[in-house]
Amino acid sequence: MTSLIYVLNGPNLNLLGSREPEIYGAGTLDDLETLCAETAEGLGLAIDFRQTNLEGELITWVQEARSKAAAIVINPAGYSHTSIALMDALLSVELPVIEVHISNVHAREKFRHHSYVSRAAQGVICGLGFAGYRLALIALSDILEEDQ
Ligand code: DQA
Repeated sequence: MTSLIYVLNGPNLNLLGSREPEIYGAGTLDDLETLCAETAEGLGLAIDFRQTNLEGELITWVQEARSKAAAIVINPAGYSHTSIALMDALLSVELPVIEVHISNVHAREKFRHHSYVSRAAQGVICGLGFAGYRLALIALSDILEEDQ
């Protein structure tokens, strides 16, 4: 059966393409979804790609993934640095989780250097632009294969 990966995006990522393009690039959220869908198809995976500006909705989707998905790729955006509740949800989900940031958060303001979500992530990718999502899907494909 094809493994389903939830690809979850947090606040303000709907603005990709117009939001601080010098940091996040010119690509839009639709472009990012296309990249993820094409990558997943090549790996024999299926994705459910979503974005929300609401912390509670992100947490509900993580809880839902528990019964519906094989793994999670998440860019929690600003909630990375603030949300203990999102970290708790990811810790309870018992699925492989990879955290992705488009920008190199460690080369930016100090408040971006810490992510609560990283405690719940098997791996963290940052600073590689949209390619970070592609690499996260490749890593999950390997992890899921090893688990079989
Ligand atoms: C981000 C980095 C976060 O610090 C920021 O709040 C975002 C996007 C990234 O993808 O680089 O919204 O997660």
